[in-house]
Amino acid sequence: MATRWWLCVCSLGILLLVPCSLSEKFSLAGSPRPVVGVVGRDVVLPCQLSPLARLPSMVVLWRKIGTVFITVHKYSDESSQDLPGESYQTRTELFLQEFSDGNVSLKLKGLQLADAGTYHCFVRNPEWSQEATIELRVAAVAPVFIDVLGPRGQGIRLACRSAGWFPKPELQWVGKNWQNLTMEIVTSVTQDRENLYSVVSHITVMEGEDNGDISCIVWNGLLEPERQLAIHLSGDIFPQVSPWLAAFWILFTLVLIVAGACACLGYAAKRKASQKTRSEEEALLNLGRSPALVLSVGMCELCNCFVLSGQ
Ligand SMILES: *[C@@H]1O[C@H](CO)[C@@H](O)[C@H](O)[C@H]1NC(C)=O
Ligand SMILES: *[C@@H]1O[C@H](CO)[C@@H](O)[C@H](O)[C@H]1NC(C)=O
Repeated sequence: MATRWWLCVCSLGILLLVPCSLSEKFSLAGSPRPVVGVVGRDVVLPCQLSPLARLPSMVVLWRKIGTVFITVHKYSDESSQDLPGESYQTRTELFLQEFSDGNVSLKLKGLQLADAGTYHCFVRNPEWSQEATIELRVAAVAPVFIDVLGPRGQGIRLACRSAGWFPKPELQWVGKNWQNLTMEIVTSVTQDRENLYSVVSHITVMEGEDNGDISCIVWNGLLEPERQLAIHLSGDIFPQVSPWLAAFWILFTLVLIVAGACACLGYAAKRKASQKTRSEEEALLNLGRSPALVLSVGMCELCNCFVLSGQ
């Protein structure tokens, strides 16, 4: 019983004495580092009272600093007000259940690029006031696609594209063991009306250069991790010189040489034995117009020269 009485006196003492000094002991902290949010998602702008307790008769005012202060959200114990600013309808929220721990952070929903900037968290009661600053950066990331455009020379032409980045993204092609690819790469970045960046890059990959494992990585400095897409090009996809076609050309050339040699020897012998008229020679020429024959005749002329000069 005595203990309870003592506790009672004690509480009364705290109630009477503390309000004068309690507020002075509070301090407010925002975020020393910029907060990074992603377009379309929600972000929490931190603002914390210390000690971790509720400030009595508190007003919390969140504002964005531009050319003027724009009210983002206002809360007041006295007038039981908890309302978003005019241009933030349905987009802001305070964590009322966290107030008892001195947490007056703001949730900003459905981030837009225009939300980037500096925010003020202002907290006051009749005896005390302080404000903290929070910088918000907004990033946008987008999925990456690789298009196989088709054969180009002995290689395969690829395009890597990604649209909807902020800030400006970097793009890199890498091979199997993350080595940089040495082929010629052409990359271009464009910005649309909503300030979002698109990036597209072209490359021609040769067979065997990296065993067909190619990755395209896109990132911006603001957000980790990057986005990437890998593709495996099997050997079959590369343009090939068919072994049959190669064999055909070798055979065809051999036939030409042999035919040419035969015709040449025969022709030279004939010419040497009997001085035939030119009309017969023309007849041979007129036999056909196939490239093989023309070549044979051509070789004969060459051969003839040797024979004649040998005489
Ligand atoms: C405040 O509370 C919210 C919601 O629980 C939490 O996400 C946030 O991290 C808290 N902020 C601080 C500074 O503790
Ligand atoms: C690959 O290229 C990037 C920039 O183009 C460079 O930062 C990186 O150091 C290179 N990596 C290797 C392994 O050469």
